Amino acid sequence: MNSYFCSLLLVLLLHCAVALDNGVALTPPLGWDTWCTQGPCGRDWCSAEEVQSAADELVANGMQAAGYQYVIISDCWADTRDPHNSSLTADKTRFPNGIKPVCDYIHKKGLKCGIYTDLGTNTCSKGGRDHAIPGSYGHYKQDAQTFADWGIDFVKADFCNTIKGDNDPHKLYKEFSDALNATGRPILFNSCEWGLDKPWEWMAPIANTWRTGHDHADEWSNTASVIEINANLASYAGPGAWNDADFIMVGGEGCTDFAVGHRCPGQTDTEYRTSFSLWVIMASQIIVATEIRNMSAFQKEVLLNKELLAVHQDRLRKAGQRVGFANCSQSKVCQIWARNVTSGVAVALYNSDKVAHDITFSFATVGIHKTPVAIRDLWAHTDLGHFSGTSYTGKAIPSHGTNMYLLSMPETVTNY
Ligand code: GLA
Repeated sequence: MNSYFCSLLLVLLLHCAVALDNGVALTPPLGWDTWCTQGPCGRDWCSAEEVQSAADELVANGMQAAGYQYVIISDCWADTRDPHNSSLTADKTRFPNGIKPVCDYIHKKGLKCGIYTDLGTNTCSKGGRDHAIPGSYGHYKQDAQTFADWGIDFVKADFCNTIKGDNDPHKLYKEFSDALNATGRPILFNSCEWGLDKPWEWMAPIANTWRTGHDHADEWSNTASVIEINANLASYAGPGAWNDADFIMVGGEGCTDFAVGHRCPGQTDTEYRTSFSLWVIMASQIIVATEIRNMSAFQKEVLLNKELLAVHQDRLRKAGQRVGFANCSQSKVCQIWARNVTSGVAVALYNSDKVAHDITFSFATVGIHKTPVAIRDLWAHTDLGHFSGTSYTGKAIPSHGTNMYLLSMPETVTNY
């Protein structure tokens, strides 16, 4: 067995040992969430009709075939607790028959059903209503069982309104994780304490995916800051345990008033290609949170880019990250990101500057020490040729733009 194979085996064994052992999220999850589609992200007014028609559309528009599996109901569905048995109940005007039939509908389409809860006494938002929505605090076992009984496959657990004196995220996430496991149903667990307690360092045995930072809003400086937060987290991720850079917008409608007067789509096509490229390279969970029922040609071009999705779902199951900077300006704006994949190395050249730049990277920086190397452009879907030198230059990468390449060669040496 050669040394590359040995180190690959070691990485896989290490991850087998630490990741939550519930058999799900062996590759990073792909899906859609109600959060910013109908009404502002912060006042999501989801409904059974919306969720079911989104599931229909995921099948019709090719997203399901491309790998998007999860249809997730966000902080907008719960109403109160049943006074007799204290079960969470769904808002009757939005989900007249409750959540189970909606999950059944989703399952019939071959998709998976997700839901939101909070580990505190109330959720973060009121979902556009005049009363607070109950969280799961004090009811973890009961709510986990309710979700399992409804056929839930994915639970996002937020961290608002926790109680002083009992608000240790390590303890609370572990308790909820144990409650989910005790149901016997394999449920993907997505934790969301906004990266405050460095969840990448301790969450892998507890949750399948963990939010690494603040909410992602559909505005460039916010996206750039999310990317920065995730620039050095690859070593924490692996099968069953992935970083979550938060929802992705990619040109869909929605998001009214997330920032005053703001409506998605709020960024340029170049910027949306950048967010998709970087979420792919970092192997973040990718959950689309804007309207997909009337996808534009641009949304389809991005969200259904098979070559990028192949990198995202690559069976090597390794995350990528920033591996260096090119010397294109005084400040560190010309970024080189890389991710090892089965057939080589995926490379993103990301220009976070206000002006265009050429970005040159040496093959050694991305772990390649043998040439010639074949380079393919994953946005242009074009083979660029075989290169025998020591570096390659992406020319005139626009402000906030990203070029994505797949580098393949006879043997990859992975030592960045
Ligand atoms: C928090 C989370 C968001 C979203 C809302 C729901 O703000 O960070 O992703 O889930 O709560 O209210």
